[in-house]
Amino acid sequence: MKYNYKGMDILIEADYDNASKKAAWIVASQITLNPRSVLGLATGSTPEGMYDYLVKMYQKGDIDFSEVVTFNLDEYYNLGVDHYQSYHYYMNEHLFDFININKDNVYIPNGTADDVEEYCLSYDKAIKDYGNIDLQILGIGNNGHIGFNEPDVYFELGTHLVELDEDTIKANSRFFNRYEDVPKRALSMGIRNIMHSKKIVLLAMGENKSKIVREMIMGKVTSKVPASILQLHANVTVILDQLAAEDIIDELK
Ligand code: GLP
Repeated sequence: MKYNYKGMDILIEADYDNASKKAAWIVASQITLNPRSVLGLATGSTPEGMYDYLVKMYQKGDIDFSEVVTFNLDEYYNLGVDHYQSYHYYMNEHLFDFININKDNVYIPNGTADDVEEYCLSYDKAIKDYGNIDLQILGIGNNGHIGFNEPDVYFELGTHLVELDEDTIKANSRFFNRYEDVPKRALSMGIRNIMHSKKIVLLAMGENKSKIVREMIMGKVTSKVPASILQLHANVTVILDQLAAEDIIDELK
């Protein structure tokens, strides 16, 4: 079902698989309309299904990534690109190793850059030089973060070094063998980069996201819930499964 709430498009799909398929179709149509699209990409468990569908579409010959440019949202600070939990590793495992993307067109923040401040500025400049992101894919953290823009972030920031919240460290610990190995810092695109994207698709799945989804869509715009800033963007589609939509569905109807 498709709804519109104060300008945001909201697609509610039966389950994770259907929601992932819809997201992949949106990415595929973006690339079809403009083969040189600049995509903003997210990691986490949520978009894995979307990436699986994109790989399948590529294998069937339905999409061509040869001219596509990608910018990832974030990367752990001080984690080598080959670490099995780095977002570099994730992107290769879930997408890049299976499609015909030109690796020169792939940008992922470098968590081991020597001069972080200068590096972040160069990441912002690279995005700007491509004319900003055409389609930005987002997930959402339980605390309302997008990328790694944690509660109380300054909306005006570009790419920057983030001290992760205890909440986020805890949530990320499920991927690491030992709690003490979970990175405490990360590089992340800022809200400014995200808000400059021409289109945004945010995915949220499962019942543990239903509360934060409601705050993002129906709550006040506040840096306490970074994703709430998306209410002010002109072209946002939120894709949910039924579980994540539980707390908003009655008000949408
Ligand atoms: C991570 C990532 C975000 C992601 C979010 C939710 O920490 N930095 O980009 O959207 O948390 O993750 P998940 O999809 O696994 O719930």
